[in-house]
Amino acid sequence: MAKRILVVGGAGYIGAHTAFALGRAGYDALVFDNLSTGRREFLRFGRHIIGDLADRGALDDLFSENAFDAVMHFASRINVGESVADPGKYYRANVADSLNLLEAVRDHGVKHFIFSSSAAVYGLPQGPLTEGHPFSPINPYGKTKAAVEWMLADFSAAYGLKYCALRYFNAAGAAPVASGAKIGEMHEPETHLIPLVLQAARKGESATVFGTDYSTPDGTCIRDYIHVCDLAEAHILAMQRLMSGEQSAAFNLGGGRGFSVREVIEAARRVTEINVAMREAPRRPGDPDTLVSVNAKARTELGWEPRYADLEYIVRTAWDWERERSRSLTFEQS
Ligand SMILES: NC(=O)c1ccc[n+]([C@@H]2O[C@H](COP(=O)([O-])OP(=O)(O)OC[C@H]3O[C@@H](n4cnc5c(N)ncnc54)[C@H](O)[C@@H]3O)[C@@H](O)[C@H]2O)c1
Repeated sequence: MAKRILVVGGAGYIGAHTAFALGRAGYDALVFDNLSTGRREFLRFGRHIIGDLADRGALDDLFSENAFDAVMHFASRINVGESVADPGKYYRANVADSLNLLEAVRDHGVKHFIFSSSAAVYGLPQGPLTEGHPFSPINPYGKTKAAVEWMLADFSAAYGLKYCALRYFNAAGAAPVASGAKIGEMHEPETHLIPLVLQAARKGESATVFGTDYSTPDGTCIRDYIHVCDLAEAHILAMQRLMSGEQSAAFNLGGGRGFSVREVIEAARRVTEINVAMREAPRRPGDPDTLVSVNAKARTELGWEPRYADLEYIVRTAWDWERERSRSLTFEQS
């Protein structure tokens, strides 16, 4: 019988891609999501239950009715700026609600847990960003991710839960058109560079560049973009590793290579064949020059090889999705 996997937050961007990948890999995925930021139309991959992590009764029902072989936890608030303005909301959603889930997992005897952590746990780089880099998050969002990683370590020591914390760098791109998945990035408000540049291209607007005086070759920030389908695959590999009896671990999930904001805009110009204009704006507080992963551990211990590392391919899949999405928006409005 197919292994049953709970995908908490599976109506969101990365969770939906992972639910899709799980189905293709022969797993029985069940999505649990409150649709706070997720999309009802992404609930097409396996069964789903609409519910909230804050509702312990709903979690008990869910776990009593289903024996899960693993839980993947994507649900979170994700807006760094909002976390600074309203930290209480972030500690409640990202820490308290995760604790609810972890206690339900413990009480119902689920053995394997995969957590969506973030490069934000590291804060400003003090050296190469390996998994051993100290935790020094500089905003409440990053602190909530660090807090859940600490909870996981304690639950693992006390109750024997096996977990992987997957520290994503900048998730980007969308399932290729040929996959037929019709899913992609759809945050509201959108704060991520690639969809913002592509929305600007589609609307004939300019793309805002925050800071052009960083200590980087072209003066703009450098980030590590990782295709969402590569992230989905890493989740399956991490889960299989735990199921094979390996110990809990944390892994960086990034391409291991950085691209500047200007390089992203240039890739978007080539892909869209639209000469997106750049509007220069001041730096945003707390943005480091460069954030690039060292991904050797995921490569060697998970056998993970990012397949879609090419920036232009990442932007192309995001652009295909942007056009698909805007067509359905136009259709909804007419
Ligand atoms: N997008 C990135 O670049 C990035 C980078 C690093 C880490 N992450 C982490 O990856 C995870 C997924 O990010 P995403 O971009 O797919 O976000 P998303 O907002 O698209 O998805 C989150 C999903 O969780 C659901 N959800 C939120 N609170 C819930 C609750 N209390 N109960 C049930 N469901 C709930 C939402 O409805 C949504 O479907 C998050 O934990 C995020 O912090 C994302």
